[in-house]
Amino acid sequence: MAYVWDKSMTTGVPRIDAQHQELIQKLNGLLAAMKVRKGQEELVNLIGFLGEYVTKHFSDEEAEMERRKCPFAVTNKLAHQQFLRKFQSFKKRFETEGSTPSLILEVQKELGDWVVQHIKQIDTKLAVVVNEPVAT
Ligand SMILES: [Fe+2]
Repeated sequence: MAYVWDKSMTTGVPRIDAQHQELIQKLNGLLAAMKVRKGQEELVNLIGFLGEYVTKHFSDEEAEMERRKCPFAVTNKLAHQQFLRKFQSFKKRFETEGSTPSLILEVQKELGDWVVQHIKQIDTKLAVVVNEPVAT
């Protein structure tokens, strides 16, 4: 089943919420493409786009949390690093194994489910500090 962004994932920063929606769409797209066993080249491209997008989004979100002095900034950064390590290992495995059922399951659990939980548990902490004045 596809992942859906809902209000429980609101961070209070519209730009970050839009990025999360895009990220969820990209994950859905990759999973769907893996399930129908699209060609290796297309999948490698999708994984590449997803990786680039995630990296850009993470650094943007980390900067936002730091700027707003969010008490979860460090926790968030560490979680992002953990995700990127998982993503790299997935990417490597995909290059040798292709779309195997176990790898699809791994993407679902380790990447998709992880992202949804992470947004709900950590990124939403941004909402707590979002209305506080930001030092410029
Ligand atoms: Fe995050």
